[in-house]
Amino acid sequence: MKLLILNGPNLNMLGVREPEIYGSDSYAELCRRVTEHAERRGADIEIFQSNHEGELVDQIQAAYGKADGIVINPAAYTHTSVAILDALKAVGIPTVEVHLSDVTKREDFRQVSYVRLYAEKTVMGKGIEGYLEAMDYLVEKYG
Ligand code: DQA
Repeated sequence: MKLLILNGPNLNMLGVREPEIYGSDSYAELCRRVTEHAERRGADIEIFQSNHEGELVDQIQAAYGKADGIVINPAAYTHTSVAILDALKAVGIPTVEVHLSDVTKREDFRQVSYVRLYAEKTVMGKGIEGYLEAMDYLVEKYG
């Protein structure tokens, strides 16, 4: 099975960025753990990070007919992007939303998630482990 792992803005700054919220592991470490887990579960993955909304939309569109599942941490675009929601609806690929932090315990402006209106499942507050749980869900349901 093919999975697309998508990460939004500022996730490339993991380790440096507010470690008390997002942890001290780097983005490279996140990629390493996700790649290792994919190998364990027999999934083919593509990992992509962008600070630009349109590039995330492009990647979702490009996954049409190719990926069997999407794991997405849209980061700040979670709370603003109708374009990412529409792209996910357009391609119809089963999707799990992931957040490193538990956004329900944070600011009011983080309580809205557009992606959640499409995602089958949301995993939050579990750090990098949350990505692995999201992958397990997709592999077990669609693999
Ligand atoms: C985040 C939570 C978002 O509110 C924030 O804008 C991020 C990261 C998380 O992984 O906890 O950039 O998606």
